[in-house]
Amino acid sequence: MKPFDILLLECSPRTDATSTRLVHRLLDALRPRIDGKVRLTERRIGAEPLPPISAAYAESLLLPIAEARERYGAELSLSDELVSELERADLLLIATPVHNFTIPAALKTWIDYVVRREVTFKSTPQGKVDLLRDRPTLVAVTSGGAMFRDPPQQPDFFRPYLHAALGVMGLNSVRFVQTTGLAFSDTPMNTVETAARAWLEEGLQQFTRTLRRETVPS
Ligand SMILES: Cc1cc2nc3c(=O)[nH]c(=O)nc-3n(C[C@H](O)[C@H](O)[C@H](O)COP(=O)(O)O)c2cc1C
Repeated sequence: MKPFDILLLECSPRTDATSTRLVHRLLDALRPRIDGKVRLTERRIGAEPLPPISAAYAESLLLPIAEARERYGAELSLSDELVSELERADLLLIATPVHNFTIPAALKTWIDYVVRREVTFKSTPQGKVDLLRDRPTLVAVTSGGAMFRDPPQQPDFFRPYLHAALGVMGLNSVRFVQTTGLAFSDTPMNTVETAARAWLEEGLQQFTRTLRRETVPS
């Protein structure tokens, strides 16, 4: 049977990152609730950033896919690899800080590699149509200041942007677990642990129900 595939993106450049701690607490709690074997693909794109997209890759996006492959084949290989990791994932976990009201550049670069015309979405006269199946996506996000407050104290380009960028490929089941105001905490890791425990009590059970294994054998 195909293992249950988890793709984990760690987007902070920091070694002792609060967002990484948060996501691992959630993962530790989710793992025993998943039937069968779990295959974890971990991408530390914050600490080991993906290269910036190349001119060849940008040019290739303007071409029909067959022509793009013929002309730029080898230069699409990183994108192909990242897309296939995403395609096979039954669960996408993203651990990320807020950087200047939105996602860090490292995560934006990953998005630029996976949001691909004729691969993960197609363009139609009516607009963009997704090509990937939906799958549960959990975003563990931490911020130094007062993000995600109502009324807002900082503009939120983070959640609307991620909803749009993941949604264009078909990933619409996106949940956020957020810990904010860490710059005002003397013990940010304790604050993260408290937030993780709160989600485990309030959100874990419901989120676990959304986990479905793809039935394709491998
Ligand atoms: C370049 C940069 C920009 C930041 N911008 C914001 C911001 O707009 N709003 C905010 O609340 N915190 C901001 N922060 C603070 C981080 O979100 C905060 O330190 C977070 O907890 C870091 O997560 P990490 O430990 O996973 O790296 C910024 C930090 C950096 C390094």
